[in-house]
Amino acid sequence: MAIRSPIVASSTTDGIRIRHADPLEDPGPISECIRVCRREKRTVLNEYTAEQEREYISNMGPREAVFVAYMGDGFAGFSGIAPRWPYSERLTHCGEGGTWVLPEHRGKGVGTMLWRRGVLPWCRKVGFKHVGFFVMAHNKGSISFYESLGFRVCGYHRCLVDWEGELLDAVEMEMWVPEEEAPT
Ligand SMILES: CC(C)(COP(=O)(O)OP(=O)(O)OC[C@H]1O[C@@H](n2cnc3c(N)ncnc32)[C@H](O)[C@@H]1OP(=O)(O)O)[C@@H](O)C(=O)NCCC(=O)NCCS
Repeated sequence: MAIRSPIVASSTTDGIRIRHADPLEDPGPISECIRVCRREKRTVLNEYTAEQEREYISNMGPREAVFVAYMGDGFAGFSGIAPRWPYSERLTHCGEGGTWVLPEHRGKGVGTMLWRRGVLPWCRKVGFKHVGFFVMAHNKGSISFYESLGFRVCGYHRCLVDWEGELLDAVEMEMWVPEEEAPT
């Protein structure tokens, strides 16, 4: 029988539960969530099969993590975090992360809980002091979401993303991870 990863956080008021991704249970919902966000033109992630996702989760490095969120019994979304520049010993304090929530669960605090209770405590644990990534410039809701967590826009990439021949701008975002969680 599948043994689920332990819950790392749960909110009784919102009914959201966060835990590390389970290689048996979560790859299917994660790949479906990526498919949905790709159709919306909101993510540059590749379309991984559940098997590829399982392979990734099962073989993550010691500083990589994937957190999943459930509302009730239903999968709601996930976040990933990993070293940003693994080839440089000068940049080991830098992480790169992202979050994807299913449309029907957006605007309910799922993304916030994934970061506050999953990704940011993980950053503190494994020594990521700085987190950065880019977001496609048209994805304004996502930029506002990351700003609400304390990220700031720190740069702009013109024509960075090749979306089937259409070149899309992207916004670079960053945050220095606070040493303690801000009160909610
Ligand atoms: C961006 C995303 C992860 C946000 O997740 P979420 O669970 O809906 O976010 P939350 O409910 O925790 O929102 C927290 C705050 O972020 C801001 N925010 C979130 N979505 C927003 C939107 N569409 N427009 C404006 N502000 C938004 C708000 O300030 C919100 O606080 P409020 O609800 O009190 O107003 C989700 O919309 C998503 O998965 N989008 C598609 C995939 C994507 O764009 N991922 C990021 C690229 S890597």
